[in-house]
Amino acid sequence: MKHPFKFIITLILILSAIANSYAGEGMWLPQLLKLLNEKEMKSMGMKITADDIYSINKGSLKDAIVHFGGFCTSELISAKGLLLTNHHCGYDAIQSHTSVENNLIKNGFWAKSHKDELPNAGLTATFIDYIDDVTALITAGITDDMTAEKRQSIVDKNLSEVKKSYKLESYQEVIIRPFFDGNQYFAFVTTIYKDVRLVGTPPESIGKFGSDTDNWVWPRHTGDFSLFRIYAGKDNKPADYSPDNIPYTPKHFLPVSMDGVSEGDFTMVFGFPGRTNQYLPASAVKQVVNTLNPAKIKIREISLKIMDKYMREDVATKIKYASKYATIANYWKKWIGESQGLQQTYAVNKKLDYEAQFQKRLPQNSPYKTLLTDLDKLYTDIDQYALARDYYGEITLRNVELTAYMGTLKRLVTAYEKNGDKGYFEILGRVKDFSADFYKDFDAKIDHEKLGALLDLYVDKLDEKFVPEYLRRQNLGISDGESYATMVKEQYTLSSFSSETGASEILNLEPSKAVAAIKSDPIYALSSAWSDFYSKEIATPYSNIRKEIDLKLEKYTKAQMEVFKEKRFYPDANSTLRVTYGKVNGYKPRDAVSYEPITYLDGIIAKYIPEDYEFDLQTRMLELYKSRNYGPYADKTGNLPVCFIGSNHTTGGNSGSPAIDAYGNLIGLNFDRVWEGTMSDINYDESICRNIMVDARYILWVVDKYAGASHLITEMKLVYPKTKGKTKKKNSLSPCKYGIFKNQKYNFIVSLIVWAVSI
Ligand code: ARG
Ligand code: ASP
Repeated sequence: MKHPFKFIITLILILSAIANSYAGEGMWLPQLLKLLNEKEMKSMGMKITADDIYSINKGSLKDAIVHFGGFCTSELISAKGLLLTNHHCGYDAIQSHTSVENNLIKNGFWAKSHKDELPNAGLTATFIDYIDDVTALITAGITDDMTAEKRQSIVDKNLSEVKKSYKLESYQEVIIRPFFDGNQYFAFVTTIYKDVRLVGTPPESIGKFGSDTDNWVWPRHTGDFSLFRIYAGKDNKPADYSPDNIPYTPKHFLPVSMDGVSEGDFTMVFGFPGRTNQYLPASAVKQVVNTLNPAKIKIREISLKIMDKYMREDVATKIKYASKYATIANYWKKWIGESQGLQQTYAVNKKLDYEAQFQKRLPQNSPYKTLLTDLDKLYTDIDQYALARDYYGEITLRNVELTAYMGTLKRLVTAYEKNGDKGYFEILGRVKDFSADFYKDFDAKIDHEKLGALLDLYVDKLDEKFVPEYLRRQNLGISDGESYATMVKEQYTLSSFSSETGASEILNLEPSKAVAAIKSDPIYALSSAWSDFYSKEIATPYSNIRKEIDLKLEKYTKAQMEVFKEKRFYPDANSTLRVTYGKVNGYKPRDAVSYEPITYLDGIIAKYIPEDYEFDLQTRMLELYKSRNYGPYADKTGNLPVCFIGSNHTTGGNSGSPAIDAYGNLIGLNFDRVWEGTMSDINYDESICRNIMVDARYILWVVDKYAGASHLITEMKLVYPKTKGKTKKKNSLSPCKYGIFKNQKYNFIVSLIVWAVSI
C-alpha cells in the first residue's frame, strides 16, 4: 500500500509546486501595484500592502528609496539620513578622496563622527514625491497618420507646457517619461538633495572582492556596499553644501532584518532600473547578437588590455584608472554574457514564434498587418549606421579620453564663433572645472595607445564610406596596412592638451588667441573633423531611420497589448521608480550543474589568493575568520552569510536597491545579476535570470566587527520579524503550506495527509 500512497503524495506536491509557481518577470510601477500585483505578491508571501509600499498620503516604503546620483539606487536606513548603496555606486566618490598616501580604496574609510563625513560636489540624492499619469496631456493633438517628425514636435511642445504647469519649489523638479514606447506618459515630481557625504566604505578587498573576474558571476562573495549620509538645511529641506547643514530626517527608513533569508522567501527590490528592451522584434535582437555586441566587445577588449598593462605596472596608475577600468570592463563582460544567454535560450527563435502568433491573431483588416515586415526592413536599413554609430561612440566618447575632452572644447569654440567673447566666457568656467577633473586621472600614454589601436580597428572594420577623408591612411601619410599608432603618438606629443599645463596655458589666453590655438591643435583638428563627419554621415541618417523605427515600435507595443490580452504587460525600464518581486532561489545554469542561493564567508576564504590583484584579503579578515568572530550576524548553522540570489527582475540602475522582505525590512542590497541571465534586459527567462544581493547581515558584520564602526549600527533599527516578531506561527503545518486549492479547507486536508504520511 505504501507505494501508491507515496505516488499520490508526490503528485500532490508537484501540483502544489506548479500552483505556487510565480512570475519573477516585470518591473512594475509602484502606483499600480494595488491594481496589478498586490494579490500575486501576497500569494508569494508578502505580508504588507501595496499601500505600505507606495502612498502619497502617508509615509510608505517609497520615502526610503533614493535615486543616487541619477545612476544608482540607495535607501535610507536610519532616522539620521544614513544612506546605503553599493561600493561600485559610491566608487567615483571614494576614488576622488583617494591618493597614494591616503588610500581609501585600499584601506576603506569609516567616519568616526558626523564632522568626519566627506562631502562630494555634484552628488545628488533624489526622492520621488508623487507620480501623475499625464498621457492625455502629452498625446493631445496626435493622430495615427502623422509623420514621425510632426508627431515628435507636438509631443515636445506638450511636454514643455505640461512641465511648466507644475508649481514647484526651487529644489523640486518634474521629469516626464514615456512608457510602453510612448503609449503612456507619467510625470514624476522629485525633490533633490545636494549635500551627500561619504560615511563609510569597506576596503576594496571586501567591497570589490573578486573584481572583474567575479563580476556578473554566481557564486559571488563581494561586500559591494558603501554608506553615505544626506544633509539638509536647518528646515530639513535641500540645501547646497554647507558645514552648517544637518543630517536629513526621513519620512521613512528601512529597518534591517537580522533574520536573514532562506530559499523560497519572498523578496522585493525597489529602485530605479535604467533601461530594458523587452518588446523588441526578432530583427532587433538579431542585430544586437550578430552586429552590435560583437563590435563593442572587441573595442573594449582592446581598450581594457592597454589599461590593464599600465595599471599592473604602477600603483598611482592603478588608482587613477580604477574607476574607469571598472566601468568599461563592466559592460564589456555584460555584453558577452548577454549574447551567450540570448543564443542559449534561442531568444531570436522565441521572438519569431511569438511574432507568428501575433500575426495569426491579427484580424483580416488590422492596421498592424505589415508592422513586423516594416520593422524588419527598417532594422536592415539601419544596420550599417547603427554599427558605425557604436564604433564612433565607443571609441571617441567612452574609451579614448582626449577625443571626448575635445568635444567639450568644441562647445567652447562654437560659443565663441556664435557669440564672441561673451559666449566664450559664459562657458569657460565649466570647461575649466571639467578640465581640472579630467587631468587628475589622465595618462596620455595610455590614451594615445588606445586611440592608435582603435583607429586601426575602425578603419579596417567599417565600410570606407564611414571613414572621414581626414582619417584615411593615404591622407595622413600612413602606408597601407600600417598601424595608426606612430602617427597618433606623434600628434599627442605635439598636442598641448596631452598635459594639464599645456591645456591651462591655452585656456588662460584671451578668447581669440585661445580659440586659434585650440583649432590648430592636432588632436583637436582630428577629433573635430571626425565629429563633423560623424554628425553628417552617420548620426543624421541613423536618426532619420530611428524615428521611423520608434514610431513603429510604439504601434507594435500597443498592438501586442491589444492582441495578447491575457498577458500582463509591464513597461520597459526608463530610470523611473519600479518594484520587482520574486523569491530567494537557486538555479541550474546548464546540464548537471545546480547553484545554491546563499554564499558564506567560508567561500571568501576559499577564493583567497595572497597578493592577488582581485582576490587578496586583509589580515583582519583572516583573523576574524579564524576566531569565527561573527557576533549575532551568523545564521542558524553558525556560518556568516555573504550574498544571495533571487528571481527579481533587475537591470543596471538597480544597483544599490534594497532587497526587502515580506514585512518591509531590508534583507539585502542588490548589486548584480548572474552571467547566464544578463540577457534579462531583452529576454527575461525565469529559469536562469537571477539578481545578486549582499546579505544585510554581512554588511552589518563588516561595519560592526570588521570596521569597529558600531556607532553606525546603533543608528539603525535591527528587527527580527521571523524569529521574534509578528510573523506566522511556527507551526510547520500551516494551512497555506500546500496551497493548491482556493478553498483553504481542502488545503488543510491535503496538509494533514502529507503530515500523516511523513510521520
Ligand atoms: N555588474 C555590476 C553592475 O552592472 C557591478 C559592477 C561593478 N563591478 C565591476 N567590477 N566593474 O553594475
Ligand atoms: N550592477 C548593475 C548596476 O549597477 C545592476 C545590474 O545590471 O544588474 O545597476
